[in-house]
Amino acid sequence: MNGLTVASNDESQTLRIGERLGQLLTQPTLILLQGDLGAGKTVFARGIARGLGVDTDTPITSPTFTLMNHYLARLDLYHFDLYRLTDPDELIELGFDEYAFGAGVALIEWPEKLGDRDTPGLWVHLKRLDDEKREIIFSLRGGADESLAVSLQEICNLNQ
Ligand SMILES: Nc1ncnc2c1ncn2[C@@H]1O[C@H](COP(=O)(O)OP(=O)(O)O)[C@@H](O)[C@H]1O
Ligand SMILES: [Mg+2]
Repeated sequence: MNGLTVASNDESQTLRIGERLGQLLTQPTLILLQGDLGAGKTVFARGIARGLGVDTDTPITSPTFTLMNHYLARLDLYHFDLYRLTDPDELIELGFDEYAFGAGVALIEWPEKLGDRDTPGLWVHLKRLDDEKREIIFSLRGGADESLAVSLQEICNLNQ
């Protein structure tokens, strides 16, 4: 499955699309969130967290300085922001592989820092079209997860 696209007209719509995806996640998933600063990666991540059942009182913000935040939900959620990563060894210190390929859902902002564009997982590219409009492009790379492909199709259809 490649290049499924959905449009978002404002922040709340990105939040809802993320939330729907979070609701549909049933197994460990690695989600790589691409896009420029301000594209909406963290908004989308917040939606996923809500959909997975992270308490609505819990703020979901970019873990810019801590590199990773861990949330308890239906599936454990590990939210990474690798923007400030300077040395790949920091990933080892963080136990990155254990979280990214473990039993939970891992969300990675700035996956470019991993240096591997072929990391298997759900790649989500948020593109800023204007102040409020975004294009969200999903592509599953590596061992394709059939149920996830169906969920993404459903999300895109609902949003037509
Ligand atoms: N359609 C939209 N989707 C997501 N964010 C939007 C949208 N329209 C406007 N915004 C604004 O863009 C910003 C996105 O911020 P954020 O999610 O932190 O970006 P990133 O994590 O990609 O740097 C927020 O200020 C949000 O209010
Ligand atoms: Mg962010």
